Amino acid sequence: METSRRSVITAAAAAGLSAATAGTARATDRRAPVRELFGRLADGTKVHRWSLENGGTRLKVLSYGGIVQSLEIPDRHGRHRNVSLGFATLEEYVAASPYFGALIGRYGNRIGKGRFTLDGKAYQLSVNDGENSLHGGARGFDKRVWDVEGFTAGPDVGLVLHYTAADGEMGYPGTLRMKVTYTLTRRGDWRVDYAATTDRATVVNLTSHVYWNLAGEGSGSVYDHELRIAASRYTPVDAGLIPTGELAAVAGTPFDFRRAKTVGADIREANQQLLYGKGIDHNWALDKGITARPEPVAALRDPSSGRTLRIATTEPGLQFYSGNFLDGTLVGTGGHIYRQGDALCLETQHFPDSPNQPSFPSTVLRPGATYRTTTVHSFGA
Ligand code: GLA
Repeated sequence: METSRRSVITAAAAAGLSAATAGTARATDRRAPVRELFGRLADGTKVHRWSLENGGTRLKVLSYGGIVQSLEIPDRHGRHRNVSLGFATLEEYVAASPYFGALIGRYGNRIGKGRFTLDGKAYQLSVNDGENSLHGGARGFDKRVWDVEGFTAGPDVGLVLHYTAADGEMGYPGTLRMKVTYTLTRRGDWRVDYAATTDRATVVNLTSHVYWNLAGEGSGSVYDHELRIAASRYTPVDAGLIPTGELAAVAGTPFDFRRAKTVGADIREANQQLLYGKGIDHNWALDKGITARPEPVAALRDPSSGRTLRIATTEPGLQFYSGNFLDGTLVGTGGHIYRQGDALCLETQHFPDSPNQPSFPSTVLRPGATYRTTTVHSFGA
């Protein structure tokens, strides 16, 4: 998966140019973050949209939910397309967004019955998915207005997003102060650094819910995308998509993506787990486990455009969701209807329902400690 952008640098190096000179050549497409008014919430609160660009990647981010509204990358001929599902207007995001492009928290994915016990005290969370709590409850971080600032640092450009969740918000204990940094590097990588502190013991699991379609949003199904996930085990679920607690081998199942295969290859197998998810909606236990530095865990490729996405993370889990609940009722950014399988999500995370699963890596954050995770998305063609 040699990238055309890397080839530019390689060619520059071959021509005897220093890395700095090559960097200057590439810096021509760098654009520092600019802000515009995107809309207003019902109560009058302003929502801004930030636009920034670096290394061939163009990003548009909303202060509402930290939403990636658009992420454009070039294909093998240098043609840019938006590869992230979204909406054209704020009203549509507020009305009924299935977390398009959003920052997710306080707890990514599900907590069974919206309940957990911490230090002997029972907590009841906001329940918004049958009897369970999903993505932080009825009004998670995807539905909050974040404070956003743009920055330029050396060769990078980016945004710093701040939000403080109140003690008791959506039922979670502890005032959670967050800083999320979106960085576009000179190679066009989109890096996400999450940091959080609390004043009382709590649980935290932050992630990003971009819906990828590397052929371009609104272009149809992603079932022909090739995907690789570096995981030999996944966490099977019950009918409510809560993990059973088991770590099951992917070998011999539709969940085996250790060698690249198409997203659609086994998605129609009569498998109980696929029936529960209406397709794939599962957490992979990454072989590398928790790491201090981001390590490669997944690679996605669209054969038609040649576009590739590689994901590296410090996190131990990856939720692969195959867009099963997209049902033709939403019109996306480019004016096309989104149908089942028109995108997929690759959410780096801790495992769902960890607060109720003693054998899963802990999601507890205590006062004095800082939660830190990083995920890097690298693009090529
Ligand atoms: C996650 C969940 C899915 C679904 C989507 C959004 O991926 O696991 O079940 O809720 O978010 O619709």
